[in-house]
Amino acid sequence: MKTHVFDAVIVGAGGAGLMAALYASRGANVAVVSKLYPTRSHTGTAQGGIGAALGNLEEDRWEWHAYDTVKGSDYLADQDAVDVLCKEAIDTVIELEHMGLPFDRLPNGRISQRRFGGHTNNETGKPVMRACHAADRTGHMILQTLYQQCIKNRVNFFDEFHVVDLIRVDDTVRGIIAYEIATGELHVFHSKAVHFATGGWGRCWDVTSNAHSLTGDGTAICLRNGVPMQDMEFFQFHPTGIYKLGILITEGVRGEGGILLNGQGERFMERYAPSIKDLASRDVVSRAIYMEIQAGRGINGQNYVHLDVRPETVNKYNELAGDPKRIDRAYIESKLPDIADFTRTYLGIDPVEEPMPIQPTAHYAMGGIPTDLDGRVLIGAEKRVLHGLYAAGECACVSVHGANRLGTNSLVDLVVFGRRSGRHIAEYCGQADLLPLPTGAGRAIQGELQRLRNGKGGMKPYELRHKMQQTMTDNVGVFRTEETMTRAIDELRRLRHDYDTKLQIDDNGQRYNTDLLEAWELGCLLELAEVTAFSARARKESRGGHAREDYPERDDAGWLKHTLCARAEDGSYSLDYKPVVLGRYEPKKRVY
Ligand code: FUM
Repeated sequence: MKTHVFDAVIVGAGGAGLMAALYASRGANVAVVSKLYPTRSHTGTAQGGIGAALGNLEEDRWEWHAYDTVKGSDYLADQDAVDVLCKEAIDTVIELEHMGLPFDRLPNGRISQRRFGGHTNNETGKPVMRACHAADRTGHMILQTLYQQCIKNRVNFFDEFHVVDLIRVDDTVRGIIAYEIATGELHVFHSKAVHFATGGWGRCWDVTSNAHSLTGDGTAICLRNGVPMQDMEFFQFHPTGIYKLGILITEGVRGEGGILLNGQGERFMERYAPSIKDLASRDVVSRAIYMEIQAGRGINGQNYVHLDVRPETVNKYNELAGDPKRIDRAYIESKLPDIADFTRTYLGIDPVEEPMPIQPTAHYAMGGIPTDLDGRVLIGAEKRVLHGLYAAGECACVSVHGANRLGTNSLVDLVVFGRRSGRHIAEYCGQADLLPLPTGAGRAIQGELQRLRNGKGGMKPYELRHKMQQTMTDNVGVFRTEETMTRAIDELRRLRHDYDTKLQIDDNGQRYNTDLLEAWELGCLLELAEVTAFSARARKESRGGHAREDYPERDDAGWLKHTLCARAEDGSYSLDYKPVVLGRYEPKKRVY
């Protein structure tokens, strides 16, 4: 194995990884290791905007953003972390602007902002324009901007190197093991600090907005290396994915005035969220869509509804609401160009002429690797720091999203907590010694990859993946019960056994062996799917994205606490809990 030595290794080159790398590189020698070419990272698919209370169009305050975030989280978010998120969102967005990010502009030159679900003026309860955006390509622009900054700051990039293990000795980390996709060689990255920014695991479900690469690698590696995972039962279903394909149709469509219609042509969100209607929080809207479908009010009785942004519809409803805003084709083409393209490409529909068929799509992990406010990874209810290990972004849980994330807050989370991690890494690397590698580093993963190469059981990874995705969709989706989750856990255990004993891949080569890597990624997904179902079955209440038909109410007396799910050496799981950090906002019933 080749060995590389750096002060810090950042795994993942999305928004969190690049922001961390940029800040860490100001005080440390940094490598970014990414299984993708950096600008193909999933941050690039984030569309509608990044939330910050700039107040460029109407009054706004970071405290309102914080309240909306806590309410959206169904009171499970840690309020100290939410304060940091919403306060620092403002200068982080300005910093991105100064780095050259081409935000849309208002006539006065300020950054343009739009409405998004759950963002309100706390005094009137009305939607507020808080999402700063670059058309509907905000994540893409963030990614390009940060990548350019990293290149300028001489960050070292190892593109198409796939992380496969962490080197941990007691309570310190010493580096990672990565697989070079072009050659099939394993490399040791020996470092003082490791930062995971490896994104989510939406590929556990079959209808998802997540790219093929979203397989939870860093999260699964931490779990296997003794870090209990936090709040894994909370996975967000975005209300508007393209029917059957799951591709994201940004909430920005509703922010620009688009509305949801059922098969009877009713604007059904008026019944579920009388005050802010289509701009209610995502968990509320996704559940409403399912309830409409279950009641036979999908389009033509099928399992989808319509998202309608045709100017005639938007203008009619704006007029009814006394909102002077009017839109036309040119407006849609300039504010939502990618959405117009996607719907033409994937559906053969022009959204200016026809409504879009949509259904909820598995979108975002609220849970993940527990961290403190500086991105340091914490172990267990006692919050013991694992020295030198950091995480930020979707793979992590700081926790600012609690049981349900507000739209736009993923991008805020990436840049705010990526920046804080990066700063802390630079400081840590200035003080810490490079500790020696343990003997045999990388041997265990070498053995596992060999096992996957040599498997002869005849079961192909795609067969197992398909069964896992179907199991999760049918049993651990928008609504769950004890029975469905038990069914999922039993089936996922069988699948994990098949994975260990029957898997067989076709490609035994060394170069670009994506067959082997997909098999390895499937192992990560299977574990995270089981941890999700296992954590979810234990939580006997409904909160945010965890909606139980058998326990329909939120239960603060019993369940206002974070779940921690640990993995034992034999692959079994156990649960523990830790308190939520409360603050200014007392838990109360959520009404939109
Ligand atoms: O709807 C969207 O544009 C998605 C944004 C997000 O997940 O925050």
